[in-house]
Amino acid sequence: MRKQILAANWKMNLTQKEVHSWIADFQTKNWNSEQVQVRVYPSAIYLKDFTTAQVHCGAQNVFHEVRGAFTGELSVEQLQSIGCQSVLIGHSERRELFQESNELIAQKVKACIKASFPFVLCCGEPLSVRKAQTQEAFILDQLQKNLEHVSPDQIDLLAIAYEPIWAIGSGLSASVHEITEMHLAIRTFLMARFGEAGQNVSILYGGSVNTANAAAIFNCANVDGALVGGASLDVESFYELWLALCA
Ligand code: 13P
Repeated sequence: MRKQILAANWKMNLTQKEVHSWIADFQTKNWNSEQVQVRVYPSAIYLKDFTTAQVHCGAQNVFHEVRGAFTGELSVEQLQSIGCQSVLIGHSERRELFQESNELIAQKVKACIKASFPFVLCCGEPLSVRKAQTQEAFILDQLQKNLEHVSPDQIDLLAIAYEPIWAIGSGLSASVHEITEMHLAIRTFLMARFGEAGQNVSILYGGSVNTANAAAIFNCANVDGALVGGASLDVESFYELWLALCA
């Protein structure tokens, strides 16, 4: 059975005081489940606040070099050394605002693989691509290039998040039809590229997931959870998403 994952991507939000209050609220809820794993991706400065919180915490980004003169960057080894459990790679905000190329992202994937560090590879098309109806080719090209250095025996480290850029933070999620179509295309790609092992990769949807649309999204074939921005900042709404995924 594939892992179901509900992941919070906080992006550059919350002060330390707000993080502490989020964790305190989080701990009042029951997050136990055999089938669903909850994860939090806070700003890296807060990762250590999670080590006592009994929840999978991961970083929002990582650099591919092991160590050296790379001011402002963090390595896989550094993240692992403080108990960080996974990392997001290639979020569209990294690709668009910080010019991360497919080649750079492939290097980051390679660094994670080398250190046996689990990662969530994010992919997503801009509105112009969706309007031209070339989104499938666009996404599969990203995956092909980003996963260049990965072999079938390593893909238990991999999860994928499909996040159409036009749906992120817009309040307008992709439709159930659009999500089902793309997740099937991604699954088909994974199986062609990695064989049967491709069945075991969790594919998350991200982009304006909220308490109103979550149940319908989680019902789509090949949707194995969500990567949530805005609706994860409030524990109450995040917990509602959790209940919807566990249902
Ligand atoms: P929103 O849920 O705020 O649209 O953000 C999605 C996202 O980018 C998660 O990585």
